[in-house]
Amino acid sequence: MSYLAITELQKHYDNYHALRGINLSITEGEFVVFVGPSGCGKSTLLRTIAGLESSTGGTIELDGRDITELASSKRDLAMVFQSYALYPHMTVADNLSFALRLAKVSDAEIQEKVRSVSASLQLDALLERKPKELSGGQRQRVAIGRAIVRQPKVFLFDEPLSNLDAALRVQMRLELARLHKKLGTTMIYVTHDQVEAMTLADRVVILNAGQIEQVGTPLELYRQPNSRFVAEFIGTPKMNLIAANKLVRHEDSLAIDLLGQNIMFPVNRLKGPLPESVIVGIRPEHMTLVDQGGDISGRIELVEHLGSEAYAHIQLSSDQTIIVKAPARSELKDGQEVSINIDVSEVILFNESDRVISVIPEEA
Ligand SMILES: Nc1ncnc2c1ncn2[C@@H]1O[C@H](COP(=O)(O)OP(=O)(O)OP(=O)(O)O)[C@@H](O)[C@H]1O
Ligand SMILES: [Mg+2]
Repeated sequence: MSYLAITELQKHYDNYHALRGINLSITEGEFVVFVGPSGCGKSTLLRTIAGLESSTGGTIELDGRDITELASSKRDLAMVFQSYALYPHMTVADNLSFALRLAKVSDAEIQEKVRSVSASLQLDALLERKPKELSGGQRQRVAIGRAIVRQPKVFLFDEPLSNLDAALRVQMRLELARLHKKLGTTMIYVTHDQVEAMTLADRVVILNAGQIEQVGTPLELYRQPNSRFVAEFIGTPKMNLIAANKLVRHEDSLAIDLLGQNIMFPVNRLKGPLPESVIVGIRPEHMTLVDQGGDISGRIELVEHLGSEAYAHIQLSSDQTIIVKAPARSELKDGQEVSINIDVSEVILFNESDRVISVIPEEA
């Protein structure tokens, strides 16, 4: 059942067509993350839902009510931005209670709400401070607290953590996940950071040039992308892409010529007719370095040691380098010749228009 229903939503900024027919349905309590490259329309979509931008076509319904033309303040949504936008001359307590005072909520109720939000966001010791006396993380907690006291139907976050340093981002990410669990309120969250997207989201919406490219759970997008765009966007290091030289149909498999060496791909995993040429997509963790006799071979260009694992950058030919995940303690040397096994069951094929033409086996 749809709680927030977005239908054929359009947004034009003069001649620029920023949202091109967005259709999206969100259920109550869901944590939905919008990701996509810079300029794809994430903030525009969020701001249009919030009513901070007017749409130029389509409808937005919240909890059974058409809010497309409704003023932002009447939409029952609360937005948290990257820049905290706190009132600088007010204390933390006053920042938290401002919207309630504006709404003429009784003093007793205000006190109770501020107390509860302050406790859940660990702001008790900071209530009398002004924003300039707070760290970035503390300011962002106040901004989130200010949204929570209003008890909105939906929280909208636009890159709320991107001004924070790496350690604090991780900590705040966990706090947001806990907060969502506790409140159970619907959340829509915009980020560039795909780790945030993968870890926070019930569902991820990938936007590309004003359109939805794909919607799915983090694992669906990772394992079953519809397009090269999604396949490359989700996952670090990126999926390796290798253009195949030649395809030859054998009985129930397809011999794919990868730089002079064949991998056999089951024909029953192909969607549609046999194409002329394909691009082979393989994630770094779906290959293994072996002493000899692997599917393909190459030369190590460099190895990145991350402590828990290592990434070997391997040159297959003068213009093709791939990344293979290796065990943390691998003693790989630059310049070393290596042989690589490919887990064909995890291989994805793309056609010339960058659409996926293979099906992932069910149980794998
Ligand atoms: N007020 C505006 N007037 C004209 N064009 C705009 C306006 N706001 C945004 N745009 C354009 O609309 C497109 C989408 O912008 P938007 O801010 O939604 O991108 P985004 O996905 O949030 O990007 P980022 O990741 O950089 O924040 C961009 O090309 C941008 O230049
Ligand atoms: Mg943005």
